[in-house]
Amino acid sequence: MLNYEDKIKNLSTLKELEELRVEIFGKKGVLAEKFSKLKTLSKEEKKRVAKELNEIKERLLFLLNEKRAFLEDKELKERMKKEAIDVTLFDGKSESGALHPIFSMIDKAVDFFISMGFSIEEGPLIEEEFYNFEALNLPKYHPAREMQDTFFLKDGKLLRTQTSPVQIRVMQKQKPPIKLISPGAVFRRDYDLTHTPMFHQIEGLVVDKEGKVSFSNLKYILEEFLRYIFGDVKIRFRPSFFPFTEPSAEVDISCIFCNGEGCRVCKKTGWLEVLGAGMVDPNVFEAVGYKNVSGYAFGMGIERLAMLYYRVPDLRTMFEGDLRLLEQFK
Ligand code: DAH
Repeated sequence: MLNYEDKIKNLSTLKELEELRVEIFGKKGVLAEKFSKLKTLSKEEKKRVAKELNEIKERLLFLLNEKRAFLEDKELKERMKKEAIDVTLFDGKSESGALHPIFSMIDKAVDFFISMGFSIEEGPLIEEEFYNFEALNLPKYHPAREMQDTFFLKDGKLLRTQTSPVQIRVMQKQKPPIKLISPGAVFRRDYDLTHTPMFHQIEGLVVDKEGKVSFSNLKYILEEFLRYIFGDVKIRFRPSFFPFTEPSAEVDISCIFCNGEGCRVCKKTGWLEVLGAGMVDPNVFEAVGYKNVSGYAFGMGIERLAMLYYRVPDLRTMFEGDLRLLEQFK
């Protein structure tokens, strides 16, 4: 039986081990055979041989289990080595990404305004009512607050509904002249083909001494901008209302889908509204303690521009993270 100890020592695979285990311990194995022969022995001898056999059995079982643990460990290590994946390895198939259409639209706009001498400012997404409403000439209970469906937070704060509060924050910190744009995310309770609860705006503000900033300056900059983005379009300023500007205007471009002839997108009007603007309301200057100044401001929705520019029919698809959409913008 001792040669089985050597056989166990020399095992090199789990498969061999299993075969040997059956050979020794199986129903028809060597041990079973030896035990079955006990009955042919005398009582004394039976006792002695049985004891011996049991000791051998224990010993071989111990050796076998020890060997099994060793082989299992060895085979696991070998397998891990063989199946290892180098995640840093370049597979030659990876695709390069593309800028999200909203961000390439922001980039385009930012490029334009920087070339015109504007600086870029940012403000917090979680705002106070004072900056989002009060200081922008939207007192509590003013009906114009209803123009926007606000996400109010617990502690009296809110998610900004427009980038206009950045105007106030900058004017509080700086003296005129000011010439800024502020791109960023804004939030409203809205969800349909052309609205998502989070979207982006670019705010513009220019302030200088009284008489130095006029409506024609505003008109010039916006016309230049819209032609920079949309090429040869017609542009019109329509009288409108915003609490923070007086006079106020909404700006339309001739429909880029039908060249102004009237189609489904422009609702047969031939025009597409693209932004709001006006001369800064004196109440806004008062809220920040500015005196003897004049200024203009404008605000536009990036998604609106991007949908028109890239001709995306459903705004919601822009934020679903579907690669099939993004792949079209490479
Ligand atoms: N804040 C306005 C909105 O969200 C857009 C806007 C209009 C901004 C006119 C302005 C402005 O600065 O002068 O609808």
